[in-house]
Amino acid sequence: RKNLVIAIDGYSSCGKSTLAKALAKKLGFIYVDSGAMYRAVTLYFLRNHVDISNDEKVTNALQDIELNFHSRDYESHITLNGEEVSDEIRLMPVSENVSEVSAHKIVRHEMVKQQQRMGKSKNIVMDGRDIGTTVFPDAPLKFFMTADPKIRAERRFKELESKGNNEITLEEVFENLAHRDYADTTRKESPLIRAEDAIILDNTDLTQKEQLDFAMEKVEPLL
Ligand code: C5P
Repeated sequence: RKNLVIAIDGYSSCGKSTLAKALAKKLGFIYVDSGAMYRAVTLYFLRNHVDISNDEKVTNALQDIELNFHSRDYESHITLNGEEVSDEIRLMPVSENVSEVSAHKIVRHEMVKQQQRMGKSKNIVMDGRDIGTTVFPDAPLKFFMTADPKIRAERRFKELESKGNNEITLEEVFENLAHRDYADTTRKESPLIRAEDAIILDNTDLTQKEQLDFAMEKVEPLL
């Protein structure tokens, strides 16, 4: 049979990647973190002072970027022109600029093209903002995840803290999430919106295991 694509979209820091990784691991599928691609492009643009108001510069910069995923036990590792940048793309300079870069039409066009290529013949779980609406509108299974913003900020704060990041306050994390939610849902190019056929998963009060069980119940009939 044809390959299976599972699309997971939703707000920032609501556990998309945790669920996507768990599903991929359980199913033996490839996990693709589309947000990491936008983050890596943002990192490149910051380092190279790419002027995003200049379309030609953006186009040229994109041609100089090669992104690759390396999966280690279903943790997503991404390289930018061969350099491992998985940790750096999670830090604040990138988080504060990624919404602006990812709203760029030329950037989105290129990322979507690369993402569609990855899902062409393989079984994948991809998470992001526009996977069920734009990248794989025909995906047979789509989830739309959401959770209380305060809970999301607390989860992300703990995650940053556990990685030794203690310069940032809970309030700053909350502000960044609120800003990204707003930017992602109101942008012109493929805004974050639930695909009509996406299953809503509000995980405010759900454990990771409960979320995986819920998702697996929807996957099983398709296997
Ligand atoms: O998923 P993550 O929070 O790491 O994504 C970082 C940012 O990348 C999001 O806030 C959003 O602006 C952008 N993004 C996007 N489309 C995707 C995935 C991420 O615009 N498919």
